[in-house]
Amino acid sequence: MYSIPHLDLPPLRGASGRVQLPGSKSISNRVLLLAGLASGTTRVHGLLASDDTRVMLDALRTLGARLQPTERALEISGLGGTLAVHEARLFLGNAGTAMRPLAAALAVLAATQGGRYELSGVPRMHERPIGDLVDALRPLGCTIEDLGVPGYPPLRVSGQPGGQLATAQPIRVRGDVSSQFLTALLMALPLVSADRDVVIEVQGELISKPYIEITLNLLARFGVHVVRDGWSRFTIPRGSAYASPGDVHVEGDASSASYFVALGAIAAGAGAPVHIDGVGGDSIQGDIRFVDAARQMGAAVKSGPNWIEVRRGRWPLDPISIDAVHIPDAAMTLAVMALYARGTSRISGIASWRVKETDRIAAMAAELRKVGASVVEGDDYIEVAPPTHWQPAAIETYDDHRMAMCLSLAAFGGQPLRILDPQCVGKTFPDYFEALFGLATADPAAVPVITIDGPTASGKGTLAAAVAKRLGYTLLDSGALYRATALAARRDDIPTDDAVRLAAVASMLELRFDGERVFLRGDDVTDELRLETTGALASQVSSVPAVREALHALQLSFRRAPGLVADGRDMGTVVFPDAPLKVFLTAGAAERAERRHRQLLDRGIDARIVDLRAEIEARDERDRTRPVAPLRPAEGAQLLDNSLLSIDESVDRVLGWWEQRRPFP
Ligand code: C5P
Repeated sequence: MYSIPHLDLPPLRGASGRVQLPGSKSISNRVLLLAGLASGTTRVHGLLASDDTRVMLDALRTLGARLQPTERALEISGLGGTLAVHEARLFLGNAGTAMRPLAAALAVLAATQGGRYELSGVPRMHERPIGDLVDALRPLGCTIEDLGVPGYPPLRVSGQPGGQLATAQPIRVRGDVSSQFLTALLMALPLVSADRDVVIEVQGELISKPYIEITLNLLARFGVHVVRDGWSRFTIPRGSAYASPGDVHVEGDASSASYFVALGAIAAGAGAPVHIDGVGGDSIQGDIRFVDAARQMGAAVKSGPNWIEVRRGRWPLDPISIDAVHIPDAAMTLAVMALYARGTSRISGIASWRVKETDRIAAMAAELRKVGASVVEGDDYIEVAPPTHWQPAAIETYDDHRMAMCLSLAAFGGQPLRILDPQCVGKTFPDYFEALFGLATADPAAVPVITIDGPTASGKGTLAAAVAKRLGYTLLDSGALYRATALAARRDDIPTDDAVRLAAVASMLELRFDGERVFLRGDDVTDELRLETTGALASQVSSVPAVREALHALQLSFRRAPGLVADGRDMGTVVFPDAPLKVFLTAGAAERAERRHRQLLDRGIDARIVDLRAEIEARDERDRTRPVAPLRPAEGAQLLDNSLLSIDESVDRVLGWWEQRRPFP
């Protein structure tokens, strides 16, 4: 996950490859609660690991359910419908799928078994309505106190042991604001249906029916078979009780799939398609019907059990006019696809957008306008006309995962895009951007590069790594390539003056970077690579022109979305001469000798500073005077003498220069 203030996307162009979807949020949180309430042990496979499931898991643990992660699943030993902990405070973040059903379940359990529970969340959670649910529960005999603004969390639910609930009459709930209220009742009332049928009546037109189908489907898995009469009357049969089905497999998230369906429709051109694993046409999730809408706009979609494959069909896309009441979450993706349509699209039936993680109609309108679209915003609809001139834009995400994910698809308009607060995707899809960059491609010339060159021990490696991390960019430590070449040559007993064989080794380096570790021909050489002797050998090998030539293409291949920070000696002068920011780092030889000395001491290696300084100066001399790619500042390079700067100060200096070169308002 990118935990950085903002993530810049270069203009993206194509997409292909495979993506494995994370588990569905809606299914995960329902399954967790049901497993927590049921008798027996449930093994949950493919659970989504995200902010929203974490708060549910914390709540269940607090309430006394036993959770045991195993290698392949999470094992949950449920409460069997009997409260184990009678007083608790539960913090539920911004997870509506935790707040509503937990509030209902604890309200009916406390009313009959006795207990006192406080449920709260982040400030936005306290602006998301829950009044209709409370209004349905109070007439039953549940005690629910508003701890803040009436009708909104935080709440306190409480009751005495032996209390009775008035379940003889149908329980009425509104269905036109959020289907989560009905879901909450459907999940809670089987806890009190031992002696008689419990009937729920929906008032008003029920929205998001597919989510109710998920709920009913999962209740059935846990042994509760609700009888449905249209979409207005639901009967929980007398004697219903939750029992674990043993193993439950969570489907991939169909709403998350929408971003990759859209990606394929927008950018999977003539080559390979975008292949999505985790949901298929037979999904129980309503948002799978987004696929039909995407097809209507021009996507070429195939699907099978647990997979979907998408390519561009018609291009530009056809505009769409759709009542999206059945796919409210995925419909956000349509609003962004509308940027690439031949005309104006209209998405209606989306009043529920106003009460989601943020007011999504207002947010969507504001952000789509930034890239150049013309947007008309209504109470329950949005109209989007594609941009005539695309603009670089800094996209606000409103702590709304879907805003971040959808809007990232606006990077195919030929302009760079900044996504503010990208870690908000952690709500449902922590690795969304990694997945996106695994599939989406950019024209290399459009991928931003920062080069950081400088002499040995100037601290460029540390600086480059820190800058790359802050920007979420790839890091190229080009010195490591020369060092690896030197190691490989030594293993093959190639003399340092055998240019032909050295170049052959360099061009066939079996080198793999895995996080901080580096593997050469399958062996972990991370530590060997950093040895002084390896550095000295690298310095010799690197003066062979054929070696430099052989490593050139490999270095260029690191230039991938979202961007690159490359450090070395000739990154700015030879390899990436078009980099928009080139930094030339220096520090006095004495200072560098001391730094190297400290580094070595840290690793338990003793060395004399005078020797180190002599070695550094010799290496500087060799790097500076070699005929190919001699070490010197690139044209237009920013000089940075970091002798007296801390690492953080150097990083801030570089980020400051970078920011000046960014096109975002
Ligand atoms: O930066 P590092 O000390 O890891 O580099 C090892 C050697 O590789 C350097 O002394 C230098 O001679 C060579 N090198 C190079 N060009 C680069 C990076 C490193 O010639 N871009």
